[in-house]
Amino acid sequence: MSPVRPFLSSKLDGFGTTIFAEMSALAVATGAINLGQGFPDTDGPDVVLDTAIAQIRSGNNQYPPGRGEPGLRAAIAEHQQRFYGLTYDPDTEVLVTAGATEALAGALLGMLETGDEVIVFEPMYDSYQAGIALAGARAVPVLLRPVPGAGYGFHPEELNAAVTERTRMILLNTPHNPTGKVFTRDELQIIADVALAHDLWVVADEVYEHLVFAGHEHISIATLAGMADRTLVVSSGGKTFHTTGWKIGWACGPAEMVTATTTAKQFLTYVNGSPFQAAIAAGLGLPDQFFAGLAADLEAQRDLLEQGLRAAGFEVYRADGTYFTTVDIRPLRADGDGMAFCRELPGLIGVVAVPNQVFYMNPEHGRHLVRFACCKRPEVIAQAVERLRHLASGSR
Ligand SMILES: Cc1ncc(COP(=O)(O)O)c(C=O)c1O
Repeated sequence: MSPVRPFLSSKLDGFGTTIFAEMSALAVATGAINLGQGFPDTDGPDVVLDTAIAQIRSGNNQYPPGRGEPGLRAAIAEHQQRFYGLTYDPDTEVLVTAGATEALAGALLGMLETGDEVIVFEPMYDSYQAGIALAGARAVPVLLRPVPGAGYGFHPEELNAAVTERTRMILLNTPHNPTGKVFTRDELQIIADVALAHDLWVVADEVYEHLVFAGHEHISIATLAGMADRTLVVSSGGKTFHTTGWKIGWACGPAEMVTATTTAKQFLTYVNGSPFQAAIAAGLGLPDQFFAGLAADLEAQRDLLEQGLRAAGFEVYRADGTYFTTVDIRPLRADGDGMAFCRELPGLIGVVAVPNQVFYMNPEHGRHLVRFACCKRPEVIAQAVERLRHLASGSR
């Protein structure tokens, strides 16, 4: 008898159910406050919501054009010009996708050959490794190390050492999930220099582009000299307009990169969300104050969360942007087992967090680190912080 062949393709060996599903289910089962998954608990701007409703009611419910609604592509190009001075042709250099996730998958599947290597900074958003594996390529990690009293950094020599003759691409995420790191201009220049020296492409995941706190600036690597020609910028409306369930994302870059991405993307979803595309176009056209206000509100929530985490006794690594703050749990739990800690926390004090080890190729690097999300209403964060205080006092 021939051996039973598993249903799951070997390409996806090791990719089980995501930790977010497990932790969100735990939150529901225990009634805990969910600071695990990164989605906001308030609605976005009225104009975005109202446009979607009006679009549905006026019959915009069929397939949009393959590359996306022209109005959204134009709005994306205008947004890139307004915030970064980057010029893209909406017809050939902009693609609308089913969230940033599909833009990333399309880019990886559309551009990589079997055996190519992709440099990734770890920890990393969990779809990267799976996307690279599905493309038959290999992820090569460069470690972002926490710096006590500050954020995260990398060693340039480790980045250089990661390049081989098989390296084809650097997959960069700034502002960065899960660390909250916003790459500085100097750091981006180091990455750009490596890309230029070795003729590498860059895929830049910028979904948190508008969630950057005072004293920090989101810089798109595509704005650095020589980089626009080799960079595909990926983003989405989910985080900016509190519409993570709509999954309207995009990719902008040189026409050939966008076409390669489109070629794969058209066989994944083909298209999605026509009424939501028009709504996100309306959101992208909002005045600068909207975008600034978004970051300011989130910063206050970040402060509340970080103070609470510090008061609870964790070592807190400063987040300069995004929804997330990471902590070292070892001051509170000597064995440093973040996975066990996150599984126990909901039952113990009614709060859900995510163990950072799932964001690492070598889970040991993140074993003692845990991520909390600050994208919840201030009163929800205050309640979570109150509960976390019980950890410090040892009471429940
Ligand atoms: C770094 C990063 N990239 C991409 C995504 C996915 O974005 P979307 O929901 O638009 O697919 C997320 C969502 O959490 C993320 O954190």
